[in-house]
Amino acid sequence: MCGICGVVGHRQATPIVFEGLRRLEYRGYDSAGIATLNADGHIERRRAAGKLDNLGKVLEQAPLHGKTAIGHTRWATHGAPTENNAHPHGTARVAIVHNGIIENFETLRTELEAEGQSFETETDSETIAKLVDHYLGAGQSPREAAFSALRRLEGAYAVAMIFAEHEGLMIGARHGAPLAVGFGEGEMFLGSDSLALAPLTRRIAYLDDGDCVVLSREGAEFFDHSGERVERTIQTTALIAGAVGKDGYRHYMEKELHEHPLVIGQTLQRMIDPATRKVVLPEMPFDLASLPRAVITACGSAFFAGVVGRYWLEEIARLPVDIDVASEMRYRNPPLTPGSLGILISQSGETADTLAAMRGLKNAGLPILSVLNAEHSSMARESDVVLGTVAGPEISVASTKAFTAQLTVLACLTIAIARARGELDETGEEELVSALLDLPSRAAEVFTHDDAIRKMASVVAEARDVLYLGRGSAYPVAMEGALKLKEISYIHAEAYAAGEMKHGPISLIDRTVPIVATVPSGVLFDKTLSNLQEAKARGGRLLAFTDEAGADRLSAIAEQTIALPKVHPFVTPIIQTIGVQMLAYETALLKGTDVDQPRNLAKSVTVE
Ligand code: F6R
Repeated sequence: MCGICGVVGHRQATPIVFEGLRRLEYRGYDSAGIATLNADGHIERRRAAGKLDNLGKVLEQAPLHGKTAIGHTRWATHGAPTENNAHPHGTARVAIVHNGIIENFETLRTELEAEGQSFETETDSETIAKLVDHYLGAGQSPREAAFSALRRLEGAYAVAMIFAEHEGLMIGARHGAPLAVGFGEGEMFLGSDSLALAPLTRRIAYLDDGDCVVLSREGAEFFDHSGERVERTIQTTALIAGAVGKDGYRHYMEKELHEHPLVIGQTLQRMIDPATRKVVLPEMPFDLASLPRAVITACGSAFFAGVVGRYWLEEIARLPVDIDVASEMRYRNPPLTPGSLGILISQSGETADTLAAMRGLKNAGLPILSVLNAEHSSMARESDVVLGTVAGPEISVASTKAFTAQLTVLACLTIAIARARGELDETGEEELVSALLDLPSRAAEVFTHDDAIRKMASVVAEARDVLYLGRGSAYPVAMEGALKLKEISYIHAEAYAAGEMKHGPISLIDRTVPIVATVPSGVLFDKTLSNLQEAKARGGRLLAFTDEAGADRLSAIAEQTIALPKVHPFVTPIIQTIGVQMLAYETALLKGTDVDQPRNLAKSVTVE
């Protein structure tokens, strides 16, 4: 959701900022731009609509020089994704880049227009520049003007500013959208996340909500929301530049799909003691044994991981679970059972809806346990307990490995809660832990089915609509499969609980609407098979993901059957997920879409 990168240094800053933007492009790719201070201290900028490469071409034609620079890659909220609306915005005195939404921009704009300021863009962000300029015009110093303007902004933002005639100065601020400061040798950096800064420095400090930072080449001064000077801890990030290349794969998504086994294994290593083969969770400030309920909330794929978690927690730990997408949960004001546990799931830890839903649950007195990939994120800071998914950076906009890592954590959490509640004895725990430890190698076996998945994709790629069906914990896997297909191939797909098909969607079925079914062997196998028979009887083309134990019976009715590795029923959703994600990827390849950066999307949705 827009990426920001800034440098105050001693070398040419444009190439550094440009590379930083490349690493942030997953956050938005509607347009991009960079502004620098030239040798005369004047602000110069270059902008281009579309992908960052377009900006690259502009910079080749008209290079930008200067050692102080800010850059931006945009996911449009207010105003079309044109060059004119691209950041940086500014005046002769100030240039700014912004991530977020300024909710009171219309009021501020009217006020500034009344004073004679004119606006060139349709963006809310330009208001920040004009407001700072207004205070500069009134004689304030850059620092005073920035602080005055920031005090007037409502909404969510991360912002970076540079000022004409003030070489070596940059001001950043964070209110609801992330911003990190990188410490170099005689140079300082700003970035939306540590990924942007990974090749530049490993010493990073994160702004707290409401913080401002004033950067010079020598260091950073932090101020909290009340303007008090504060210290922010410098952490050493484990991210290394090499961790974010494509490693010879065609797309980040392909690479990240192939990281499933590794990521599941790394996550398990963190949660299971190899000596005792028991799940070991960090110290909890609440008693797992006496939880009356859990409330799960998340968005998108992370929400589907939560739905799988609900099946597990209810069935294995006998813990009642409420679950809703965060954009609904945050406004629903549901009656909450005192002592319940709030569980959040997020790859980025920055998703605005999830963060707001989390704060709602927290304000209602619930302890918060978060399942997060970004362990320095806003959600991490505000949670009582963080269970980390060790998925590493996920660059592809469509989530893959982070999802299976979330499932892995939720599986371990289920075991711990079930044990604490007396629902799982030693033998039971040993059985489930063994199933989990078996997963990395079984997950790797899924890739041996790539030819069959490609063949299945050739049917899906021809369709305009696809129905996904599953029952039990295979139902959220069907949801994940349908979302991934929509997202990256632009084919309309809907997921239904297989038993629900006869209550409506069955009328859609004909030869042109293929059905992708996730049908692992197990207690619900026969039931799902009956539903698929109903679809076949109406001319439906069945494409099935099952396992070795279900293959024979499914192949009797399905046009194509893929027998994924047979694993313990507990962990089948994890294996089946890899299959449906690969299907979406192969379909997108056939459709020729932009797999890693599908249209209109952005990773880390920090606006409402
Ligand atoms: C789907 C996808 C999104 C995210 C959702 C939540 O492939 O990537 O649906 O899952 O935007 O994002 P996080 O997990 O960062 O909160």
